[in-house]
Amino acid sequence: MAKFLIIGASGQIGGALLKEALEAKHATLGTSYKQNLSEPNFTTTDINDCDSIQKTFDQFKPEVVFACAALANVDYCQMHPEESRATNYDGIKRITDACNYSDSRLIFLSTDYVFNGKEGPYKEDATPDPINFYGEHKLLAEQYVKANSKNHLIVRTTITFGNERVGKNFYLVLKSKLSQGQEMKVPTDQFGSPSYNKSIAKALVELGEKDLQGVLNISSDSFLSRYEFALLIAKIFDLNEKLIIPVTTPELNQAATRPMKAGLIIDKAKSILKTKLMSAEEALLDLKKQTV
Ligand SMILES: NC(=O)c1ccc[n+]([C@@H]2O[C@H](COP(=O)([O-])OP(=O)(O)OC[C@H]3O[C@@H](n4cnc5c(N)ncnc54)[C@H](OP(=O)(O)O)[C@@H]3O)[C@@H](O)[C@H]2O)c1
Repeated sequence: MAKFLIIGASGQIGGALLKEALEAKHATLGTSYKQNLSEPNFTTTDINDCDSIQKTFDQFKPEVVFACAALANVDYCQMHPEESRATNYDGIKRITDACNYSDSRLIFLSTDYVFNGKEGPYKEDATPDPINFYGEHKLLAEQYVKANSKNHLIVRTTITFGNERVGKNFYLVLKSKLSQGQEMKVPTDQFGSPSYNKSIAKALVELGEKDLQGVLNISSDSFLSRYEFALLIAKIFDLNEKLIIPVTTPELNQAATRPMKAGLIIDKAKSILKTKLMSAEEALLDLKKQTV
């Protein structure tokens, strides 16, 4: 059993990871930031503050550090590029340096938004070409980790969904709106690989126990438009699909340009991992089992 530090455990992926890591009996500490949680296995850490990071490392002495903390709202990042760079790049630099100093292994969470979305889904060795600030800052962080970390794995994932502390992911927002009889506009032209946070978390625990270096894609192998994904959610949860309004991306007026054909190819993960990465449909059926 290893000592796992999850930076950003109050978020969607970090939260699912904390649960799976504790179930797998790893000694695990999670961090929150603005949510300031007073729960067991949590401490507060600001990755924009070196002393705050150092204090957490000195107290816990982690063997494996999962860097899940980010400003992950793509439109917010587009409107606040300095804040995005400070957290998504400078914050990860500080974590990388702290890991080197304490001889901890680093697992950094990145994204398919490092690509331009012209020819997804993407393999690990495809050439990045970000088209918004979020993607640009995540790529800068990847490059820093690659060049400076003594022991690391970069895990790229995409459109993650499932249960989470704050109900902000696409699946939870859509389900909530449709159950209340509200319409939701959904783009028909943005494609990706909707990925179950529980599968991602189980895969991350397995990767925390392994010694793999480099870059690894971890997602589902589904390749769907947001609209197709929304219809699947409505079908599986018996919700009114007429409330899902198909639109094109320009009609949404989103602040950040989206990679239209994004998503990830997970052949490498399938050949390495024992963990099964559920398809979008299998994940939704699993979520449905938990709600009945
Ligand atoms: N969700 C997706 O679809 C998706 C897709 C591809 C890649 N990713 C990547 O996966 C990782 C996790 O994403 P997520 O969806 O779980 O994000 P999330 O739900 O938005 O959670 C972000 C986490 O970062 C923490 N945080 C933010 N600013 C911080 C700071 N200055 N210091 C310390 N912690 C800070 C938040 O803490 P508080 O909430 O307590 O403030 C929260 O725990 C990110 O690196 C993201 O880029 C996500």
